Amino acid sequence: MATYQFIIDKIREIYSEPEKYIPLHTPLFIGNEKKYLEECIDSTFVSSVGKFVDIFEAKIAEYTGSARAVACVNGTNALHIALKLAGVEHSDEVITQPLTFIATVNAISYCGATPLFIDVDRKTMGLSPAALEAFLSLETVMKADGCYNKSTKKRIKACVPMHTFGHPCRIDEISLICEKHKIELIEDAAESIGSFYKGKHTGTFGKIGVLSFNGNKIITTGGGGMLLFNDEELARRAKHLTTQAKITHPWNFVHDEIGYNYRMPNINAALGVAQIENLDLYIGKKRLLAKTYEEFFQSEKISFFTEPENCVSNYWLNVILFESEDSRDQFLNESNSQGVMTRPVWRLMNKLKMFENCQKGSLANSEWLEERVVNIPSSAKF
Ligand SMILES: Cc1ncc(COP(=O)(O)O)c(C=O)c1O
Repeated sequence: MATYQFIIDKIREIYSEPEKYIPLHTPLFIGNEKKYLEECIDSTFVSSVGKFVDIFEAKIAEYTGSARAVACVNGTNALHIALKLAGVEHSDEVITQPLTFIATVNAISYCGATPLFIDVDRKTMGLSPAALEAFLSLETVMKADGCYNKSTKKRIKACVPMHTFGHPCRIDEISLICEKHKIELIEDAAESIGSFYKGKHTGTFGKIGVLSFNGNKIITTGGGGMLLFNDEELARRAKHLTTQAKITHPWNFVHDEIGYNYRMPNINAALGVAQIENLDLYIGKKRLLAKTYEEFFQSEKISFFTEPENCVSNYWLNVILFESEDSRDQFLNESNSQGVMTRPVWRLMNKLKMFENCQKGSLANSEWLEERVVNIPSSAKF
């Protein structure tokens, strides 16, 4: 009998699946998806022109309370554009957390900038305001054009906290610290659509926020991302940059800078419009599932990660924490070998060979979490 059989059995009971494979997260298509896709195909506007992109952007802006939203091919591209719009240049540094998905750090690298790793909080799994403030006040100096790292002599242009697995980090404190040190705040809210901090949607605290609609997220466009703006002019710049920097004209092809083909196709947006109609329903179901897990794990040695203070979380991927790396690995082996998909958190970014020489603060909390965190099946259950 497996040591963690009782957890595996509970997950099978929750999903009413005594035998079949249980994935970590599956998309749901229970609304107008086929209708809108058919409409899109019938119109022949499946690519870079069509009404669904505008509708999807407007719906996301309304839902998140942003002034404007700009749709992209995926969240990674959206992060790249966000950093460019924040003015990140070659040889700048960008602060982020080591406990994140590779896309956050890849986007920094696409700009020719270097990531600088600051620890997370154990209670949020997101960037720690205390660690950020400590690093900035001790290790940087202010110059006319911004904040400079004393040891590397490089400019720290931006900071990218991430709302891990949908749980908001302490973003208002981070925002104040960034403001004080003249560092642009870009929120990686790829995992946190429908998550709110003190009543405000994640991704709307900084200069720009980024969402992802990859197939593993709560709502999907197949592949897709979104930039969130409070500044309309910046949003217009984003639209221009993501559309090959083409000057709008009825028939002329003129481009006024090096742009990107990052615009979301209409067919993906059609899917997104149908998906967002059910977002609140899905989140409600996911929060119920989290409650079931929370009650179950109360009686066990393994702890269930609950939404941080002042937050309403979408509980994208549920998290349990083991006492040690050995017990974590035992559970991962037992659950995956029995067809219940579970995953450890990402290898810390500072441990990957591309980023092992990047500067970092003390990463004790990130390391602590890396050894213990496991994601368990989290699909909304009907
Ligand atoms: C934290 C984080 N940032 C960025 C991304 C990138 O999004 P995409 O897969 O849409 O490129 C993802 C997810 O996929 C993510 O989890």
